[in-house]
Amino acid sequence: TDLTPLKDIYEDYFLIGNAVSMTEMEGQRLDLLRHHHNLVTAENAMKPEYAYDSSRSFNFNDQQRLVDRIQEEGFYLHGHVLVWHQQSPEWLHTVDGQLLSREEALENMYTHIEETIIHYGDDVIAWEVVNEAMNDNPRDPENWRDMLRRSDWYDAIGDDYLELAYRKAREVLDENGWEEVKLYYNDYNDDNQSKSRAIYYMVQEINETYAEENPGELLIDGVGMQGHYNASTIADNVRQSIERFRELGVEIGVTELDITSRSSGELSEEEELAQALLYAELFAIYKEHADVISRVTFWGLNDATSWRSENNPLLFDENLQAKQAYYAVADPE
Ligand code: XIL
Repeated sequence: TDLTPLKDIYEDYFLIGNAVSMTEMEGQRLDLLRHHHNLVTAENAMKPEYAYDSSRSFNFNDQQRLVDRIQEEGFYLHGHVLVWHQQSPEWLHTVDGQLLSREEALENMYTHIEETIIHYGDDVIAWEVVNEAMNDNPRDPENWRDMLRRSDWYDAIGDDYLELAYRKAREVLDENGWEEVKLYYNDYNDDNQSKSRAIYYMVQEINETYAEENPGELLIDGVGMQGHYNASTIADNVRQSIERFRELGVEIGVTELDITSRSSGELSEEEELAQALLYAELFAIYKEHADVISRVTFWGLNDATSWRSENNPLLFDENLQAKQAYYAVADPE
């Protein structure tokens, strides 16, 4: 491929990442991945669902094969994800349709966090400890506890499950001397202002409480903006969310970027240009905030294999050829 590598274009700004499975670790897909990226996230492999065998014992064999390949290729690895309401074994918090007690659910959550963090150690540069804990369109963002998603984790443990998850993760990192591994909170609809406000108040309060006992230290190091956008997304809303999050004194990661087009199937020229324009607007904003933005990760290599493939959201087409979106990201100004 003779395109300028995105990782070189953004070398002085932030890491450029992509979501991977074993399929990206060979052939043309690996070539494209290596050419443009220096960071990867496992698209699925490191989710709680895949950490156990059928007898509920930890088994990281498959994931480890992927991680070995990632390391052989020299990519940084962003850890996704420890506590989530999806792709996570139900038995962690529920038995026979009944929620476990707070103590039992907490014990399972702690064990999952501890064993997983210990397994990967400093092979990851960050963990998304909690994913998607906030409701959409929270009506009273300041009152963030009441705006949390009523997930099974929330119902079994209570509104402090997040804070407890981060404290556990921090403790395990500290005990093992992995202080450089960052802890992220990650969520979508990050361009929605009431949702980004609620996340802001949540991170602020959790970090303030922690800093009272540990002056000058962060519990949550970073906010992950998934960045699953669409043709109606307004770049200025993304800018406002970034400006808000940076006030927290945390780093910001764009963790799962893609932009769906309005219609499905093959893109019209007009739609391809509109998508490219939004990518350009976003990267212009990311560059302005590069002092706090640590990484920008695309959620997939090309349209054909994207989780939202019907709406062609990525930079490369089904033949791995660059779309207008690639050129927009390469030169957003
Ligand atoms: C998606 C994957 O891309 C799909 O392959 C899988 O079937 C479902 O999950 N938010 C997240 C990601 O945090 O883990 C999701 O990834 C997309 C939405």
